[in-house]
Amino acid sequence: MHGHRVGGVHRVPGDKSITHRALMIAAISPGRSSISGALTALDARSTASVLRQLGAGISPLRTESRVTVTGRRVLGAPDSVLHCGNSGTTARLMLGILAAHGFEARLTGDSSLRRRPMGRVASPLVAMGANILLGSVGGLPITIRGGALGSIDWALPVASAQVKSAILLAAALAGVNARINEPGDSRDHTERMLTAFGFEVDRVGHAITFRPTGRFTPFEIDVPGDPSSAIFMVGAALLATGGDAEITDVGLNPTRIGAIAVLQRMGARIEVAATGNQAGEPVGRLVVTPSQLAATTVPAHEVPGLIDEIPMLACLAARAVGTTRFCGVGELRVKESDRLLLIAANLTAIGGNATIEGDDLVVEGSDRPCAGTVRTDGDHRIAMAFMVLATEPRNRIVVDNPGSAAVSFPGFPAALAALFQERT
Ligand code: S3P
Repeated sequence: MHGHRVGGVHRVPGDKSITHRALMIAAISPGRSSISGALTALDARSTASVLRQLGAGISPLRTESRVTVTGRRVLGAPDSVLHCGNSGTTARLMLGILAAHGFEARLTGDSSLRRRPMGRVASPLVAMGANILLGSVGGLPITIRGGALGSIDWALPVASAQVKSAILLAAALAGVNARINEPGDSRDHTERMLTAFGFEVDRVGHAITFRPTGRFTPFEIDVPGDPSSAIFMVGAALLATGGDAEITDVGLNPTRIGAIAVLQRMGARIEVAATGNQAGEPVGRLVVTPSQLAATTVPAHEVPGLIDEIPMLACLAARAVGTTRFCGVGELRVKESDRLLLIAANLTAIGGNATIEGDDLVVEGSDRPCAGTVRTDGDHRIAMAFMVLATEPRNRIVVDNPGSAAVSFPGFPAALAALFQERT
């Protein structure tokens, strides 16, 4: 029988969000820190190279080898523009760090990043006392001159871990209080890390209270696997016709794994087993068995916990029985691409049916074979989601730029192929 079976035990690259934060915090911790399991993809390299320009010593980011960071209490003025590549997290979190430094720096990024909104992060930092000059379209290139900052009480208009983290890093470096209200529960890696350095970070409902009680000192960290990368392996395994696949050492932070709960609700057979704690984060393994999925509704309050997983979830919804609605996903318009537009346009281009209704994405499920060309606009997660859909043997899907996966998942095609290799 011709099967399309998955098997084996797999790992995914280190968590992108945690890697950015570990590199940045190590760079502002005077002394030598050591990061193992760091993501070595292009986005993490952008953060490392920006930090090197500011005087931190960072060893090359190589897979399987630990990264050594020589940090400084105060970073130095750069002598050229800080290029953040494709990485929104680099740009936004670095603005928080630079806001507390009394020199001028200029940040830019690639054409995708230059289109992304930066006013949301500039406004609170300006309210704290930083001088920021935004580019003509409210984004990069940005010139920032930080200095002495004051405390802040800020309500975020949209849940954003990047904006929240920029405020928290600025407050920690400046030694001031911060209060942040966010409309949803975005990822809390920064809060967890700051707590580990003795800073007080309390969350009550949607309000976060920060007090500068801590101090940055050198540390060692072992970065867990990225659940936002694991989702593509999970997706491919669910679409297979037999076997099962195990993904080990994945971060299971509750603010990051909303997609797993949604898939389980759709009928996905995914076993989640917590195995311990790593880097102040819960970690564990996922065992995934191919499953027929049924449609669901994803309410807006679930969106912050699965924002990066929507491209994969939408492609899986296109294979479910019934019509799935993702409510309140307007933020997808300002990710690495206009993901809302690209998900709908690409699912339609390959023979499916997906529409945008206001800020909702509506995906009709079908079991017809898919064929056509997928436009990625260089977006790593769009590329990987459709590469997963392309693993179904009856589909004929061409992804225009599969190489963009390297932004967050080096070696993605090989990792995907390994899922389908017979078990030995
Ligand atoms: C991230 C936060 C999210 C997410 C991004 C990584 C982070 O962005 O989409 O991939 O590491 O803080 P927003 O803060 O814009 O929601």
